[in-house]
Amino acid sequence: MDLKNYIANVPNFPKEGIVFRDISPLMADGEAYQYATQKIVDYAKEVGAEMIVGPEARGFIVGCPVAYKLGIGFTPARKKGKLPRETVAVQYGLEYGTDELHLHKDAIKPGQKVLICDDLLATGGTMVACAKLVEKLGGEVVGMAFLVELLDLKGREKIKEYDILTLMEYHEDEL
Ligand code: PRP
Ligand code: MG
Repeated sequence: MDLKNYIANVPNFPKEGIVFRDISPLMADGEAYQYATQKIVDYAKEVGAEMIVGPEARGFIVGCPVAYKLGIGFTPARKKGKLPRETVAVQYGLEYGTDELHLHKDAIKPGQKVLICDDLLATGGTMVACAKLVEKLGGEVVGMAFLVELLDLKGREKIKEYDILTLMEYHEDEL
């Protein structure tokens, strides 16, 4: 199955010069969503994941079905002010703007093997923040899985010490 058939390419969103890679057609197609999820499930087994972490909001869409299929837990990394109990926090730079991500302090057990899932790897800022959060809590990041990688933003260079799976790769001008 060619998953790129299920990505909508939207030029000049959210700003001029950026082609937005919209994953909603993929999620809307049961077969494609299941196919993509299964690829990440296979990878999660390979790396021995014991917990899935996904950053708000699109990381939930990718990570939750993987956790469900494996019968392991899912932990949301959330933006500032969303988690009700004590958290650890990391600030990060986005493709556009800056933000802060949090995990509940008891979300990860020391030594736990964590796979971080997200829809898209752009500059890598989100993933660096997620990895730092997991590591602050003593977890081990055994892998990172994405539906889409934007090659020209070179996010991979920021996370090269980690094992990475991406299901689709795009250059900026590909439509
Ligand atoms: C988008 C995307 C990734 C991140 C990738 O999330 O879903 O999480 O940007 O960019 P980076 O590699 O440069 O960090 P966004 O923060 O826009 O929020 P959303 O998932 O809530 O839509
Ligand atoms: Mg996101």
